Amino acid sequence: MIVCYLKSEVKNELKANIANKDIIGLVPTMGSLHKGHLSLMKTAVENCNQVWVSIFINPTQFNNESDLKNYPKNFKKDISLIESVSKKIKVFCPEINEMYEKGLNYNQYNFNGIDSKLEGKYRKGHFNGVATIVSKLFELFKPNQAFFGEKDFQQTQIVKRLIDLEKHKTKLIICPTVREKNGLAMSSRNNLLSQKNRENSSIIFHNLNYVKTHFKKTDFDQIISKCIKSINSYDGFKTEYFEIVDSFSLSKQKKYCENKSYRVFVSVMVDEVRLIDNILLN
Ligand code: PAJ
Repeated sequence: MIVCYLKSEVKNELKANIANKDIIGLVPTMGSLHKGHLSLMKTAVENCNQVWVSIFINPTQFNNESDLKNYPKNFKKDISLIESVSKKIKVFCPEINEMYEKGLNYNQYNFNGIDSKLEGKYRKGHFNGVATIVSKLFELFKPNQAFFGEKDFQQTQIVKRLIDLEKHKTKLIICPTVREKNGLAMSSRNNLLSQKNRENSSIIFHNLNYVKTHFKKTDFDQIISKCIKSINSYDGFKTEYFEIVDSFSLSKQKKYCENKSYRVFVSVMVDEVRLIDNILLN
């Protein structure tokens, strides 16, 4: 399997393949891979004839030192998981200096307000950091297709806007959320949960589905306070936000109107671990 550490190595690798007119697919990750990441890679392999996975824990998207420090790392296991999808996948895992030659600065983008909602309220600057690294990766790979998970739906909308703003010729492919048997959305951070918290975390998806069943007939504030109460009733669980929003603007909604599309988003602190999830309602 080809593993590159330098941008120059990637450029050479891409150049060597140019004659094949390959469809280049990119799956950006921060490593500590799980079945959610692997499903993105499988879709990429089905749709592209040259697939790259980047593994890079991007410091500029972390607004919390300890979150960055504690972010799980497992390079050897990551490589064998990628190989289990396809040995033809190529991997790029740069050091920090390789991606941030001039220091840890991020660009300031105009995301039309999408970045200040939901996650943006709790993680200042997060989406500018995400967009900065995604922009650098798009510049390097010039991928025909890039694969992102619905689990981080707000992130997909940021990438969509980034593609428009910077006129990248990359098609954004959004892949469905992969879940544990109990409904918990797979995440690299799930490994930091105690066994009991991991089991109890099924309450999050349970409540998202409760909203889906009731949102057309009940006032949103009423549903939301019921859901927050239900989640917070577990020891160590504290809901940061639970919002029903317009699927496109991501702005908070009060009641159901026909012809509109809604999503529900949640973030919960489970002891020290931050879990996020969302589903489409209609
Ligand atoms: P990371 O959290 O490693 O996730 C990499 C990709 O995997 C993202 O597109 C994310 O939405 C997707 N993913 C994570 N869990 C998933 C699940 N359970 N089901 C489906 N897809 C899932 O997101 C990032 O890294 C970073 O912000 C990154 C885009 C790499 C920029 O640094």
